[in-house]
Amino acid sequence: MDERQISLIKHSWNHILPQKEETGGLFYQTLFWDDPSLRFLFGTNLSPQIRKFMDMMTFIVDNLQPFDRLEKELKALAHRHFQYGVLAVDYDTVGDALMKTLAERLQEQWTPETEIAWRNLYRTITQLMLNSLKSRL
Ligand code: HEM
Repeated sequence: MDERQISLIKHSWNHILPQKEETGGLFYQTLFWDDPSLRFLFGTNLSPQIRKFMDMMTFIVDNLQPFDRLEKELKALAHRHFQYGVLAVDYDTVGDALMKTLAERLQEQWTPETEIAWRNLYRTITQLMLNSLKSRL
């Protein structure tokens, strides 16, 4: 990710933050619509999970530079996700749901350039997470 992409990500996430709960809710709704089989991995009450996911996304967006601090956190996140039973293919489903949610929430601010920046970020995160699990998944 270059400086311009980082700035687009930060700028668009700032627009999401005031509607954090609604956006997180829409994200999980989209995810379970796309793949209902993923619902059973989560507890009945999704509210705490919505908060945790959105807070982690905020942490990621806040720490894109320098990336090394994020690396340690993401590796630990990957290992916890392995224990939850998350498979490599699920990362694509989650990425699609996240992109659809951002597009829906950001509307005209979801420009092609912003979309490329977010896709790039998600790819970077998942590559790092999946690489750290290489021998296990
Ligand atoms: C960039 C990608 C992702 C981020 C930032 C993320 C973030 C989080 C966070 C912050 C938690 C709270 C617990 C913890 O920190 O370990 C969590 C839990 C969880 N995530 Fe993710 N996640 C991601 C990808 C995925 C994927 C691909 C799946 C697959 C369906 C998934 C399924 C789960 C499940 C099952 C839990 C545990 C829920 C529970 O205990 O009820 N996550 N995730």
